[in-house]
Amino acid sequence: MAVGACVSARSTKKVYPGKTTPFVLITCLIAASSGLIFGYDVGISGGVTSMESFLSKFFPSVYRKMIVADKNANPYCKFDSQLLTAFTSSLYLAALITSLSASNFTRTLGRKNSMLIGGIIFLLGSLLNGAAQNVAMLIIGRILLGVGAAPLYLSEMAPVHLRGMLNMGFQLMITFGIFCANLINYATSKFTNNWNWRISLGLAAVPAMIITLGSIFLPDSPNSLMARGHHDKARTMLQKIRGIPNVDEEFDDLVAASDELKMVQHAWSNVIKRKYRPQLVMAVLLPALQQLTGINVIMFYAPVLFKTIGFGSNGSLISAVIIGLVNMFSTLVSIFTVDKIGRRSLYLEGGPQMFICQIIAGTLIAINFGSSEEANMSKLYAWFLLAFVCIYVAGFAWSWGPLTILVASEIFPLEIRTAAQSIFISVNMFFTFIVAQAFLQMLCHFKFGLFYFFGGWVMISTVFVYLFLPETKNIPIEKMALVWKDHWFWSKIVADDHVHKEQDDVDEMESKKRLDSTI
Ligand code: BGC
Repeated sequence: MAVGACVSARSTKKVYPGKTTPFVLITCLIAASSGLIFGYDVGISGGVTSMESFLSKFFPSVYRKMIVADKNANPYCKFDSQLLTAFTSSLYLAALITSLSASNFTRTLGRKNSMLIGGIIFLLGSLLNGAAQNVAMLIIGRILLGVGAAPLYLSEMAPVHLRGMLNMGFQLMITFGIFCANLINYATSKFTNNWNWRISLGLAAVPAMIITLGSIFLPDSPNSLMARGHHDKARTMLQKIRGIPNVDEEFDDLVAASDELKMVQHAWSNVIKRKYRPQLVMAVLLPALQQLTGINVIMFYAPVLFKTIGFGSNGSLISAVIIGLVNMFSTLVSIFTVDKIGRRSLYLEGGPQMFICQIIAGTLIAINFGSSEEANMSKLYAWFLLAFVCIYVAGFAWSWGPLTILVASEIFPLEIRTAAQSIFISVNMFFTFIVAQAFLQMLCHFKFGLFYFFGGWVMISTVFVYLFLPETKNIPIEKMALVWKDHWFWSKIVADDHVHKEQDDVDEMESKKRLDSTI
């Protein structure tokens, strides 16, 4: 149920009649809150990690390193602590493990119940974090947030027929969540005592509550009633949610879609077939390369990073707010242009922009900060650095951010969809975890070179897109297989000998027959 599902009846090529009913509104609210909470958790930990009251309570040794100026110590290592990064990263490890089983779980329980369970787990996680007395409570809270995240993320990705800008609504809500977190961290940092981080962490309970309450009032969807064989109930529900008595056309399409879904039961064995090799490669490499752009170094740790290189507490948190704004508005740029200028152009523009900014930002830090002396950064210098970080974030936010989930939602055919989506989400969570866990240690060892390291990956990723990612703009789902067959490289993989060609033809005829019988 992507944010786009709020208008699902109108977003596909067919326009079904219907009114905006409470069901549609609750669906929108839950979908928006899922993206929001996901982004909030990305954005909140870095700011909290840089707050003195939080560090002194939970990580006293890091706190001591931060306030005691030790001339011999390496300043890049001020925050280096595996336990501190575990506070951020544990969420993604939990989400990775849950996402491997979440698709079975959501299929069995239905969307309403998975949302409810996800919402309650989220709520518990945020309350535990807000009330934390020790590091264990903090980490268990983050783990619960990760467990709750997987079913929500999965249901957001599910409806593949939502194309173009609508599919990117989830990403936009993530960026809004990150921005809210940055803003709240900035506001709460003004409070003294322990309330600042408690409020920052505890406020995640607000969207969690919306998801929980919303899913209590959310009726079972026609799709999930149909999947469980209740056709009459599904029709009555459809009439209720559309607010009109005649829903025949949409109902017939739902029956056809549900029959088609029943035919596809072997997504995991299908996905390893040679003819789906391009999709499998994309399901692994797109989310991996997205994380290797280094974006979450900024999203998670901007305040810590800026503090390390000499910004004051206030300056670090304001910088994070500015970055959050740039991230959100640049995502809008992508949403409004992607169906006109295409996915490849945005990727191929965004990549080099990010690369150049990473090289400049790394060099600015190197010149000013060197590799071991205390920083003494002038205001002008700091603004320059922030400007290049912002241009880097903008490049990500109109390319690798929203397009990765968009392309993934376009290229996986029904036969492999559930498996490919699980792989996509798990790989994303795995690399998010690695970056979150390794960042402070990498900063300590690579110093300013960290920017060059991720810059190198951005270049590799851009070359990968240039060579291997076909354009999917304006390609109808049923013609999507052709993009691989027309591609200079993938054509060799998917149809390079008789056996594969014949098998492909048989499969194509079967899927055509299925399509014909549904029309
Ligand atoms: C990524 C997240 C990242 C966010 C930043 C998403 O596409 O998957 O890891 O934090 O973009 O806006």
